[in-house]
Amino acid sequence: MDFPAFHLDLFGDRLMIAVIAILHVFVNHALAVGAMPFITLMAWWGYRTGNKQWDNLAHRILGVCFVVTTSVGALTGVGIWFSASLANPYAIGSLIRVFFWGWFIEWVVFVTEVVLIMIFYLTWKKWGAKHKLAHIWVGVVLSAASWATMAIIVAILGFMMDTGTWVDNQTFLTGVFNPIYIPQLMFRTPYALLAAGLFSLLLVFFFTERGSDFRAKAVRFCSTWSLVWIGPCLGGGWLYWQVVPTDMADNLGVALATQAYAIWDGRILQVLLLLAITVAIVSLWGLVKPRKLPRVALIVPFVCCIMLLGYFERIREFVRKPWVIEGYMYANGIRADDYPVLARHGVLREATYVTGRDVTEETMHAAGKDMWIISCSRCHTTDGVNGMVAKLTNLYGSDPWESEIIVNYMNTMHKARPYMPPVPGTDDEKTALAHYLISLQTAAPSYGGAQREGVKIPPVPGAEEEADGSQTAMLAPANKLASAQAHSAGE
Ligand code: HEC
Repeated sequence: MDFPAFHLDLFGDRLMIAVIAILHVFVNHALAVGAMPFITLMAWWGYRTGNKQWDNLAHRILGVCFVVTTSVGALTGVGIWFSASLANPYAIGSLIRVFFWGWFIEWVVFVTEVVLIMIFYLTWKKWGAKHKLAHIWVGVVLSAASWATMAIIVAILGFMMDTGTWVDNQTFLTGVFNPIYIPQLMFRTPYALLAAGLFSLLLVFFFTERGSDFRAKAVRFCSTWSLVWIGPCLGGGWLYWQVVPTDMADNLGVALATQAYAIWDGRILQVLLLLAITVAIVSLWGLVKPRKLPRVALIVPFVCCIMLLGYFERIREFVRKPWVIEGYMYANGIRADDYPVLARHGVLREATYVTGRDVTEETMHAAGKDMWIISCSRCHTTDGVNGMVAKLTNLYGSDPWESEIIVNYMNTMHKARPYMPPVPGTDDEKTALAHYLISLQTAAPSYGGAQREGVKIPPVPGAEEEADGSQTAMLAPANKLASAQAHSAGE
């Protein structure tokens, strides 16, 4: 409402964030948080046994992690900020207000982490030869820093799912120690360690000689490490599931597949378990018969691991719906507390970036479109992924849709489909929204987003009318202020 709406009408904004974020989380967990302690342990093992080959292998695995984390990892990390701020600036704004110091510390730790990984990798040969133990200590501190950055961010992710008592007292610490935080951390930590083991197992086949004794040893080393973490990973996952609020757990079916496949719910849980068992079998094989483990078999647990994480993140993001910050802000960026005000004053009167303030015969279509942009377009496209046309056709067939039926649907949709927020605004605005939705049935629907269609800021009701009746601009904070003043003056 207070920002122009960036929108991708084919894939949807949600998919944009998901692709960037899942890539980032995988690189972060497997190649940083999990890999740093693993590599440090391997270097130490080489130091202890006096076998140079361990040291070389650890160095080469670190090389891969170094390149990938400082390129793909860093870029997607920034990418999450960009994409999330584009799709939902309100949510990011609120989170920054609550977690400013958390993010500040995370930033400092992150910079430390980057400096340390550079030192760790680039001084490996030079320092390592003489001061091996000191060098290994760099690895230990680096491991701690990698974990700490994740640990801080997990607090924020947990907060978004369950704000606990924060809504009442709004302190930084109640935000951090929300009910989901520690259980989620107890899942992510062993997951990262497990994923690092599987990733390294894959690399061993590139960095060691075929049929050599050392390859067998290295396979056994990675397999043992991976096996150790499977149990804690499942245990952490179970603990985490226990604290997911029940109304969110009910969303699981739609989260795992889509609504049409919600019945697959149980089956998909079985698939997830199967993935975990596959990982265990391959690790066990590597431990018992390291020489017999075929190269292709290694791809399997690694892919399973990525799929598990992908599902996990998808579920986490989805079951939180209709909230972006539980109990405080809906996924459309509107605070729960603002709903009564919007029902009285109207969304269009409160929003900054709309084409007009009132719903009349002439403005009906434009007002409806603005309403759709504000209340639906964060999750839906017109005719792409999770597109309106397909959803409505599914419900009401291809005969002309009726305004009254759609308005009725909208008035109860947050009850029938609890993952959707209630529709904000006045009755007139809902009628306009229904009008716009109906128009999508016949017109070739599309919405290019503020980035392509531009934005308009109409004069604020009560304020002096501009000569041309409206203005087009990118920013108008004064406008919003005038609106607030107009309302408080009117009350
Ligand atoms: C928080 C995200 C979100 C918002 C905001 C949202 N929706 Fe949805 N909506 C969904 C999801 C997810 C589905 C289910 C998709 C699927 O089939 O898997 C859905 C499904 C639907 C369906 C089909 C439901 C059914 O019973 O089959 C309709 C119709 C719909 N949405 C309309 C709207 C309208 C109109 C708005 C705006 C007023 C809106 N939605 C806002 C996420 C959202």
